[in-house]
Amino acid sequence: MTPAETPQPGDANEGVDADRSERIVAGAFGLAVIAAICLGITYWNGGQTQIEGVLLATAFGSIGIGIVVWAKAFMPDDEVTEERKSVASDEEDVAEFTADFEAGTTGLKRRRLLTSLAGTAFAALGGALLFPIRSLGPRPGRDLKVTPYAGAVKRLVTEDEQPIRPDDLPVDGVLTVWPEGHTHAADAPTLLIRTRPTQELHLQGEKVGWVVGGIIAYSKLCTHVGCPVGLYQAEEGLLLCPCHQSTFDVLDGARPVFGPAARPLPQLPLDVDDDGFLIATGDFEAPVGPGFWDRGR
Ligand code: FES
Repeated sequence: MTPAETPQPGDANEGVDADRSERIVAGAFGLAVIAAICLGITYWNGGQTQIEGVLLATAFGSIGIGIVVWAKAFMPDDEVTEERKSVASDEEDVAEFTADFEAGTTGLKRRRLLTSLAGTAFAALGGALLFPIRSLGPRPGRDLKVTPYAGAVKRLVTEDEQPIRPDDLPVDGVLTVWPEGHTHAADAPTLLIRTRPTQELHLQGEKVGWVVGGIIAYSKLCTHVGCPVGLYQAEEGLLLCPCHQSTFDVLDGARPVFGPAARPLPQLPLDVDDDGFLIATGDFEAPVGPGFWDRGR
């Protein structure tokens, strides 16, 4: 549109254009409300990433279109030249504009409707964006600090639920076991290692009594980022994590001696029940794997 065609106040076309702009703004905000509501419904019913993306884009896009059209059609855009020192509007100008705006003489007739729709669009979108908070899931409680070993005494079993006697594990042998009934628990894999009679264990306090016939048990979850530790160098009594080469000294409480792990593998208290099978008399001495408890290290 050339300057000559630009509607001027009082032109017959001005009212038509204002009506059209108002309809566009109302339609845009209305579409944003609908998109936000649909976004909430979609999320609540299980969610679908692509649909949620389209609805989110529609809601934001519609709000953007509404704001832009509103600004272009109804906000003053006269070119004004003033002395730099008097750029700010004086009280008289502000009062005059406010009076015009309140009276609707800026060309905006359905200001209350559009304002309400704009507020509703933002509120609906804000409400829909709150829904993903639910995706954070339930509070973990103490689940991160305990494993299925907590509570009653439990037999140690292989992956196929077979209990183990101490003699089943040869010297230098390594076996992955779980607490009976929990062979799928991600936090319970445990390494049983039978050390050599000639290898001296350097354990502290009650942990000395957690060893049965040279068999010692540690969590299999690396304390770096949780990879399964499983490479045993029997000669040196060292356990290696294949992910980033953290190395733990089995003879010294699984203390990390190399690599990024900062914490020993937690030890499990072992004993033998009346039938001669290996049992855990309690949970690991400390939380297993990596976690928030390592943040201060
Ligand atoms: S996960 Fe074991 S060293 Fe990184």
